Amino acid sequence: MLMFREKVSAQWVAKVREQLPGVLVDHAHLERKAATTALSLEKYRVLYDRVEELNTIAIEELQHFQLVLNLLKKRRIPFAQALPSAWISGLMRAMRMGQKHQPIDHLISCALIEGRSCEKFQILALELATVDAELASFYGSLVESEGNHYATYLLMARAIDDAETDQRLDFYLDLEAELIREHNELPILH
Ligand SMILES: [Fe+2]
Ligand SMILES: [Fe+2]
Repeated sequence: MLMFREKVSAQWVAKVREQLPGVLVDHAHLERKAATTALSLEKYRVLYDRVEELNTIAIEELQHFQLVLNLLKKRRIPFAQALPSAWISGLMRAMRMGQKHQPIDHLISCALIEGRSCEKFQILALELATVDAELASFYGSLVESEGNHYATYLLMARAIDDAETDQRLDFYLDLEAELIREHNELPILH
């Protein structure tokens, strides 16, 4: 299902394992932002008839946010400030303007973020199984939902314009591969 052009590096896995508390705080923000993003997609005229599906995604993301907050509380990790992600801002910077172009680009960017989350959660479910079983099973439990969000956003873009989505997806997959090669040591998921 996922079509990425670069693998998640072993360096990323090592970084996350070494800085789990910080990564969990970032994960909380990621879910919070995913909820607000689903709502912000509702501003596009071409998505007015998808507003209830977007609400459903926003509610799911808010539930994920709460689950991560519960984990933070249980582990006595204070909720703290969000850190910037060059990978996310790199994707967002490429967004074009225009009644059709902007929602298509926005949806593709969101799909790639959801897709990478899905992939990375799957990796963490395996990698953490022996060191932190609770966290490994938590990440495993989120995989399907983020995978569905990835597919839904991509299908929404295709419903606006299939050919245009193909063309932009090709561009975004190259951009994403370039961005993910730039390793960062920050305690963030992306
Ligand atoms: Fe989520
Ligand atoms: Fe999601």
